Amino acid sequence: MATAPDISVDLAGVRLTSPVILAAGTAGLLDEMADVVDLSARGGIGAVVTKSITLQPREGNAPWRILPAGPAGMLNAIGLANPGLDAFLEHHAPRAAAMPCKVFASVAGFSIEDYRAVAGNLDAWSREHGDCFPIIELNVSCPNVKTGVEFGGSPQLIRELLDAVRPHVRHSKLFVKLGPLNPELALIAKAAVLAGADGLTLCNTVPAMAIDVDTRRPKLANVTGGLSGPAVHPIVVKHLHDVRRKVSAEHGTPLLGLGGVCNWTDAAEFILAGASAVQVGTILFADVGAPRRIASGLARWTARQGKPALRDLIGAVELG
Ligand SMILES: Cc1cc2nc3c(=O)[nH]c(=O)nc-3n(C[C@H](O)[C@H](O)[C@H](O)COP(=O)(O)O)c2cc1C
Repeated sequence: MATAPDISVDLAGVRLTSPVILAAGTAGLLDEMADVVDLSARGGIGAVVTKSITLQPREGNAPWRILPAGPAGMLNAIGLANPGLDAFLEHHAPRAAAMPCKVFASVAGFSIEDYRAVAGNLDAWSREHGDCFPIIELNVSCPNVKTGVEFGGSPQLIRELLDAVRPHVRHSKLFVKLGPLNPELALIAKAAVLAGADGLTLCNTVPAMAIDVDTRRPKLANVTGGLSGPAVHPIVVKHLHDVRRKVSAEHGTPLLGLGGVCNWTDAAEFILAGASAVQVGTILFADVGAPRRIASGLARWTARQGKPALRDLIGAVELG
């Protein structure tokens, strides 16, 4: 019998048994999905990203804060609801080491000091607790309260953030999750890598809005939110391909593809464009079996491509 293709991946030295990762905020705070999904390699899952953790607890925005957006996907304006760093470490983080997959900790903030404190504390916690957060992912699609501009909004802003945070993340690998809209995305990605990011996650949601035509009011209480799901997928494939060619091919930086992955072909597109692994979010709201089918579909595709390992297909798009 032919040997099954190897779909394990290496993310800056962090090995995952499967390239399918549950995206920040779409799989509960930490391990809540375990009630409905097998979070181990058997369930096709290599890692779970926590809900973004902030320094202070946050209730998030008023409802409605999640809406279906038809075949495009969904709109959300959750507003980073989470228990805050201290409560997360006291009541939730102790469960991370026992989870059957890797856990990446997502960090959000409204000042550089917030990011430094949350990321630094999670890194220290991880080191003292069996390396339970081998990757810390900075969600930089948050506005700086002083300037109103997103931390990931320009090469200079991302450099300032990483100059402050990087020295405090000494043990975990540091990934940066960028937003999709900035035309300078490849330059921002490059600035992040040069400032010490070990990997990049592309991309967060696309700013969007929906209006109820009867009441003439915005459907989301927050007025605007983020679009995720199938509509964003081709946009991110293009960004990922750009960043692979302009940044990660030279620096060897692993990329995580994220946006509208619903099945193994969406995931395979990200791999061909240059992703080492994929994250899935919106599809989980409709189909909790998707991660397992994506992982097995990628294994069969790897075999059909005549490759022993999925990683042989990373960035292997043929441009003619
Ligand atoms: C309900 C919901 C909550 C989210 N919360 C977070 C979050 O806390 N931190 C973050 O970085 N991204 C968050 N995201 C964005 C997702 O991680 C992901 O970037 C986005 O949904 C695109 O992937 P998808 O099309 O597979 O859903 C959230 C998305 C949704 C739908």
